[in-house]
Amino acid sequence: MNKEQWGSRVGLVFAMAGNAVGLGNFLRFPVQAIQNGGGSFIIPYLISFLLMGIPLLLVEWSIGRFGGAFGHHATPFQLHRMDNRKIWKYIGVFGLFTNIAVASYYCYLESWTITWVYHSIARTFSGMSGVEVASFFDSYVSLQQHTIPVFVWFLCILLNTYILSRGLEGGVEKVAKIGMPLLILFGLFLAIKAFFIKEGVEGAINDGSVGLNFLWTPDFSTIWSAKVWLAAAGQIFFTLSLGMGSIHCYSSYVSKKDDIALNAMSAGWMNEFVEVVLGSAILIPIAVGYLGIDKVIELTKFGGLGLGFKTLPFLFEQWGAAMAAFAGVFWFGLLFFAGITSSLAMGTPVMGFFMDEFNWKRKSSAWFFGLLIFVFGLPTVIFYKYGVFDEFDYWAGTVALVVFALFEIILFAWVFGIDKGWKEINLGADIKFPNFTKYIIKYITPIFLGVVFIGSLPGIWQKITNVEIYEKIASATDANVIHELEKTILFVNGSRLLLVFLYAGISVVVYMAYRKNYAK
Ligand code: PHE
Repeated sequence: MNKEQWGSRVGLVFAMAGNAVGLGNFLRFPVQAIQNGGGSFIIPYLISFLLMGIPLLLVEWSIGRFGGAFGHHATPFQLHRMDNRKIWKYIGVFGLFTNIAVASYYCYLESWTITWVYHSIARTFSGMSGVEVASFFDSYVSLQQHTIPVFVWFLCILLNTYILSRGLEGGVEKVAKIGMPLLILFGLFLAIKAFFIKEGVEGAINDGSVGLNFLWTPDFSTIWSAKVWLAAAGQIFFTLSLGMGSIHCYSSYVSKKDDIALNAMSAGWMNEFVEVVLGSAILIPIAVGYLGIDKVIELTKFGGLGLGFKTLPFLFEQWGAAMAAFAGVFWFGLLFFAGITSSLAMGTPVMGFFMDEFNWKRKSSAWFFGLLIFVFGLPTVIFYKYGVFDEFDYWAGTVALVVFALFEIILFAWVFGIDKGWKEINLGADIKFPNFTKYIIKYITPIFLGVVFIGSLPGIWQKITNVEIYEKIASATDANVIHELEKTILFVNGSRLLLVFLYAGISVVVYMAYRKNYAK
C-alpha cells in the first residue's frame, strides 16, 4: 500500500500553498479584476472567498484525509468511501480528469516562462519596439520559431515528471520550500519597483499608484452584475485549486489525527495574500504606469497572457539594461515557480490513483502521468491558434471545477451528513471554527454554488453552440479569415470530443479498479 507522508508540517503548508499559488494569481487575477471594473470586482471576490472558498477548502481537506485513511489518494474512491452508491466513483473521475486536462495546457504555459527567463538573460528584447516584443510572442505560440516551443515544453514535462518521481518529501515538498520563498521575494521586489514608478521618469505617464488605485477604489456600479459575480467566483475556484482533486490528494497524505483546519486556513490565506497583495501590485501598476488605464483595459481583452508575455518584457526595457534583465528574470522566474508548484499538484492525484489501485511503482506512475500530459497537451501546443488551449481552459479549468464542487459539497453535507462532516473537520484541529460555519457549509455554500452554476448556464450554452465564432464568420468578408474560422470550429469541437473521451476513458479505468479491488 501507498504509505507516503509529508516530511513536515511546514513542508505540507508550503506545498499546499504552492499548489494554490499559481499562474492564476499573477496573470489571471489582475486581468479578471480589470475586466470586471477594478474596484467593483473585489467585493464579490472577497464574499466568494468567505462563503465559498473557505468552506470548500475545509470540505476538500476533510474528504482527502478521510479517504487517505483508507489508502485512497484520488477522489474516485475517496468519494466512494463516503457513500457507496455507484455514482460517486464516477463523479470522483472529475478529480483525475480535471488534473490531466488542466496540466495538459498548464505545462505549455509553464514552459513559456522558462523560455522568457532565457530571453531576459540573453537580452533578446533589448532595442525591440513594443510591437516587436509582442509579435515575438505570437510567432512563438504559432510555432514559427522552429521546434523551440515544442522542445522547451517537452523539457518542462520531463522536469515535472522527474520531480514527481522523487516523491512528496524528496520532490514536491523540496521544490515548494525553495520555490515559494523565492517567489515571494521576487514578487516583493517587483511590487516595490512598480510602486515607485514616477510619472515623467523613464517614460512613465503615471505614478505606480495609479494602477493600484484603479484596482482598489471601491465601485458599486456593477455590484449586481451577474457577469462580475461569476468571474469573481470562478477566480476563487481557480486560484484556490478548488474542485480539482489536487487538494484532496495532498491532504490524503495527512495522518488521521493530524490537524487539517489550521493547515487549510494557513495555505488558503497564504494564497490570498499572494493573490491580492502581490498579484495586484505588479502587472497592473507597471502596465498602467507606462500605458495608461484605457490602453490597459483594451489590452486585457486579450487576457493575462498577452500582458504578461508581450507587454511587460517591453516595459522592463524602460528601466535600463541591467534592471530589465533582473526584472525579466524575477518576473518570469516567479511565474515559473508559481507554475511548477501547481503542475506538480496536478500530477499527484493521478499517480496516487495508479499506485493505490493498481500497485504501480511511484516512478512508473510519474512517467505515465508525463505521457498523459504529453498526449493530451500536444493538441494544445500544435493547434494553439485554433483555440484548443482556450477550450481546455474553459471546460476543464472553469466549468468542471464548479460542477465537481457542487457534487462534493452535496455529498459531504447532505449524504455523508454535516454532523459527521463537522466532526471530521474538527478532528485533531488546532483552531476552532465558530459553530455557524457548519450551517454555512450545509446551506449557504451549496446554494451559492448552485446559483453560480445556474447563472453560468447561458454562457455555457453560448459556448457549446459556438455562437461567437459564427458571428465572426457572418461579419467576415475575407475568404481566408472565414476559412480559418471554420477550421477553428472544427478544432474547438474536436477538443470537446477529446475531453469527453478522456472522461470516459478514466471512468472505464475506475470501473476496472473497482472490479479488481472492491467488487466481491
Ligand atoms: N491554483 C492554481 C493557479 O492559481 C491553478 C491550479 C488549479 C493548480 C488546480 C492546481 C490545481 O494557477
